[in-house]
Amino acid sequence: MRRDSRANAAIFILDEFLAGQNLNAILSKWTKANRYAGSSDRESIRDIVFDILRVKKTFTFILNKEKQVINGRALVFLYSVYYSLPLNDIFTGQKYGPDKLNNYENEFSEIAKENNERGFEVIDNIPDFLLTEFQRSLGSKFGNVMRLLEKRAPVSIRVNAHKSDVSSILEVLSSEGIEGKIAKKVRYGIEIIGNPRRLTQLKAFKDGYFEVQDLHSQKTIEGLPIKEDTKILDYCAGAGGKILNIASLLKGNGRFFVHDLDKKKLIEADLRAKRAGIKLKRLNAENMEQHHNSFDYILADVPCSGSGTWRRNPQQKWRITSDSLEEILNRQITILNEVKDLIKKNGLLFYITCSLLKIENEEVVDDFLIQNKNFSLSNKENITIDTQGDGFFCAVLQKKN
Ligand SMILES: C[S@@+](CC[C@H](N)C(=O)[O-])C[C@H]1O[C@@H](n2cnc3c(N)ncnc32)[C@H](O)[C@@H]1O
Repeated sequence: MRRDSRANAAIFILDEFLAGQNLNAILSKWTKANRYAGSSDRESIRDIVFDILRVKKTFTFILNKEKQVINGRALVFLYSVYYSLPLNDIFTGQKYGPDKLNNYENEFSEIAKENNERGFEVIDNIPDFLLTEFQRSLGSKFGNVMRLLEKRAPVSIRVNAHKSDVSSILEVLSSEGIEGKIAKKVRYGIEIIGNPRRLTQLKAFKDGYFEVQDLHSQKTIEGLPIKEDTKILDYCAGAGGKILNIASLLKGNGRFFVHDLDKKKLIEADLRAKRAGIKLKRLNAENMEQHHNSFDYILADVPCSGSGTWRRNPQQKWRITSDSLEEILNRQITILNEVKDLIKKNGLLFYITCSLLKIENEEVVDDFLIQNKNFSLSNKENITIDTQGDGFFCAVLQKKN
């Protein structure tokens, strides 16, 4: 696809997003309807859409100020100006491309060219209703985090220590033309510097030698005081990223249980476990009772705003509302209450979020501890979002009796 037809596809996808459709659903609908598009076309279109959504508020601010309609075309236009792209190659007016620039767009781009700031004011690209909560939670880090949220997230992998080692995987990557570098912050991480696209096509990935995983997600797990040959439950296992990380660190030595409200997600966890050479046992409402007071460790990687990972999922930040956040907060405390009886005496409960907000982190833990005097806080850590990884929070709670 030419540059202009990719831009046209991004315009279509953004229009559907602005109309309230789910972004993943739009992307798969687009892929089905445009079978001729290759993987590099799809990736490039997705990049345009995600780049725009990261800074949507900046663009919306300008469009509102200039009394322009907010639609896919206007966003792709501002994005093209923002990144100084060749406008005439994009707004071609040809069969599969967007129409040529209109008077307003011509004028705006001329002014932008002459102006160093390109007419873009610094806007905090988060929902209005969360501004105060972000400021309160981040304090002096607020500005830096706002700028980080405008950029793409880094790509990194976790080597499966159960099957391989970092230097072997670095060699594999290099032989495939993928540039990687040892990550300093974690034991089994590799930062992907160049050409990350084909990672999941590699045989080494399909054979379970590595997983694509954020470095700070790995750091969170490496920081947990988990011993070998114990009984561990990941209560919100989803696709299994964290429990597989634990199992890999323990070289498979332990009994690993998974549970999730959404059972469909566990299918992916099973596939990944099979690749990784790890056995996961499923726990459901029917067999839960028999496991009371039996787990050495329980991981509650709870649903949250996802604010620490918004670079990867920028659509999430524009969909969250104060009502949906309220519902998430209720879920977090419900989940802690659901797991507390499953832990044995002296066992540890790990409360984890990928949120930057105190209201979902420290304050949920404080509430739980006030209500449950038989638990005490052993440790807590905020792993800040930076150029190498996403933002996470982890609290370690011990059950005293
Ligand atoms: C942050 S994700 C977990 C990600 C996963 N641990 C990983 O590392 O790949 C949160 C998960 O909690 C699940 N969930 C939501 N409400 C739940 C509940 N009440 N009980 C158990 N799981 C729940 C969601 O389906 C989702 O998979």
